[in-house]
Amino acid sequence: MYSRIQGTGSYLPARIMTNHELAERVDTSHEWIVERTGIHQRHIAAAHENSSDLAAAAARQALSAAGIEAGAIDLIVVATTTPDLVFPSTACLLQEKLGIVNGCPAFDVQAVCSGFVYALSIADNFIRAGQSKCALVVGAETLSRITDWSDRSNCILWGDGAGAVVLTASETPGVISTHLHADGRYRDLLHVNGGVSAGADGAYAMKMEGSAVFKIAVRTLDAIVDETLAANQMQKSDITWLVPHQANIRIIQATAKKLGMSMDNVVVTVDTQANTSAASIPLALDMAVRDGRIKTGDVVLMEAFGGGFTWGSVLIKWI
Ligand code: COA
Repeated sequence: MYSRIQGTGSYLPARIMTNHELAERVDTSHEWIVERTGIHQRHIAAAHENSSDLAAAAARQALSAAGIEAGAIDLIVVATTTPDLVFPSTACLLQEKLGIVNGCPAFDVQAVCSGFVYALSIADNFIRAGQSKCALVVGAETLSRITDWSDRSNCILWGDGAGAVVLTASETPGVISTHLHADGRYRDLLHVNGGVSAGADGAYAMKMEGSAVFKIAVRTLDAIVDETLAANQMQKSDITWLVPHQANIRIIQATAKKLGMSMDNVVVTVDTQANTSAASIPLALDMAVRDGRIKTGDVVLMEAFGGGFTWGSVLIKWI
């Protein structure tokens, strides 16, 4: 038994914050941000919108695209770094919002920007093991709530949003292989300086050593591309689409170069959405499925790198 993505969906909050608006708050410029990151704007959740609200909007679209009633979902996995509450999990809040009362398991996964590839891998393994037939996998973030809006080297990078897929059992793959990694020795290079157990000295926010993260991300993503191709005895030319985590256009370009791939075959949303952490891959996937770029038979490589460090990939055939 294998799994396949049967439907995708996404949601972006209505409010758009441009680089020009940011430049009124911190000492930066549109040109600097575009040159270093490729980002032009980001979406920001309204005060009444929490991660589970973004997740619910994306999930409804994915269910509709898959032609599946919410009640048929038998597993909910939500990847998020910005849960609504300490508990219940965002997945349980989502279950309630979707009106799912069949008692299916629902839980959150925390792997920061690699969260969606972790969540998809977990759901794929549930389906392969026969424990699920129809899983809802979501990446949802309200990073604006843990952003230090006075830190110009950091606040330019993040955005809010959610993406979702419905993953169903299939006799042919669908999901070809998944590859997950982590190395906690890098914890300090990208982290939030506070939390429930550790407490916080005032408000807490994301902290990052940007250029160190950049270099390690490029090196690590090169390695995950090699690992994924080797595991499947595939060549670079076998990949039709790269759907990368959207951290920085220069990191994305480096991975495309590694694959010998034209940027025409890379799905890019970082320009309009910035880095939405666990939401960025399903948001990009949904865009490319809806606009017809990804077609039946295409081989799609998704890869991500994030705090922890965590990193991973999912290789799929669009069937
Ligand atoms: N506007 C203008 N100048 C800025 C700035 C901003 N928003 N942010 C930093 N600078 C300045 C710095 O103060 C520094 O000035 P100095 O030379 O006078 O000290 C200069 O720009 C260079 O800073 P540096 O941090 O070396 O820039 P960079 O080229 O590495 O770009 C990032 C910074 C954050 C854009 C880049 O490192 C990056 O994208 N890293 C990866 C981050 C990432 O994607 N993380 C998530 C992974 S999931």
